[in-house]
Amino acid sequence: MKKTSQEESKTWKCSVCGYIYKGNEPPEECPQCSSSSKEYSELKEKQKLGYDGKKFDVLLINGSSHRAHNTGVLTDLAEKTLKSKGVSFRRFNLNELDIQHCWCCYSMRDSACTYPCRNQLDDAPALQEMIVDSKAVIIASPINWNNMSARLKDFLDRLTCLQNLYLLKKEGLTTGKVIGILVNGHEDGGMKTAMDIFIYFQQMGFVLAPFGFMYRTHGAQYNAKTDNDFFKDDEKLKNEVEGIVSNVIETMNLDLETKLKDRIVPVSE
Ligand SMILES: Cc1cc2nc3c(=O)[nH]c(=O)nc-3n(C[C@H](O)[C@H](O)[C@H](O)COP(=O)(O)O)c2cc1C
Repeated sequence: MKKTSQEESKTWKCSVCGYIYKGNEPPEECPQCSSSSKEYSELKEKQKLGYDGKKFDVLLINGSSHRAHNTGVLTDLAEKTLKSKGVSFRRFNLNELDIQHCWCCYSMRDSACTYPCRNQLDDAPALQEMIVDSKAVIIASPINWNNMSARLKDFLDRLTCLQNLYLLKKEGLTTGKVIGILVNGHEDGGMKTAMDIFIYFQQMGFVLAPFGFMYRTHGAQYNAKTDNDFFKDDEKLKNEVEGIVSNVIETMNLDLETKLKDRIVPVSE
């Protein structure tokens, strides 16, 4: 069937590198960064992320540069488990958001860093509000140089305004919330990456769910072209993600946030 000129004039944008492509369908592989067509969305004017204030339980974050690759496999599995357990949640892929690096006002003056964050120009404030309003956070990240992705680090740095409330002796807004962590990579650094992520949340008073983090690397049999097949089909990975999500939900249901209110001594740095 002949395509209409309207279909042929669609404009697509790669969520990884920003490449603009015109055509009826997105390219199978991004000509600029080699990402798959799943990273492409039709170009539209971007609105700043807002939070409607409707409460939900779990904030699920894919911290990868790719929304639909290996970290995406972990995040999809987590999402499926949350749905199957009837838990209310919201998912965000950081590569679709505009998160600027932290202005580090705190480094200028302690009191300059407080909640709400002074930088209200991007999508971070809405996520900060969602963290304050939800009961648990699940973070998925690739290993990059034995650490979390830079995208995720930029986002976690933006939580300093929540952590600094404790230093300023203001009421903490995150004590007793629950964190779960999902990590994937090629060969090494899984444990360190998970712990690096955990440290942020620990300093905001979060509780790591028992058996609350997992990491999975595929080793030398696979390479970057084939590793997605490994992650998609790996039973251990599937069981572990389901386990982490389940453990987060069980811990969240204890409502430690209410039980520990005003009973915890903040110790940071
Ligand atoms: C900049 C960079 C650094 C990386 N460093 C590591 C590393 O230290 N350890 C490791 O096991 N894998 C490392 N990897 C491999 C990624 O963790 C792996 O490709 C991961 O599955 C990517 O997730 P994604 O498909 O969601 O982007 C690195 C990849 C990149 C691009």
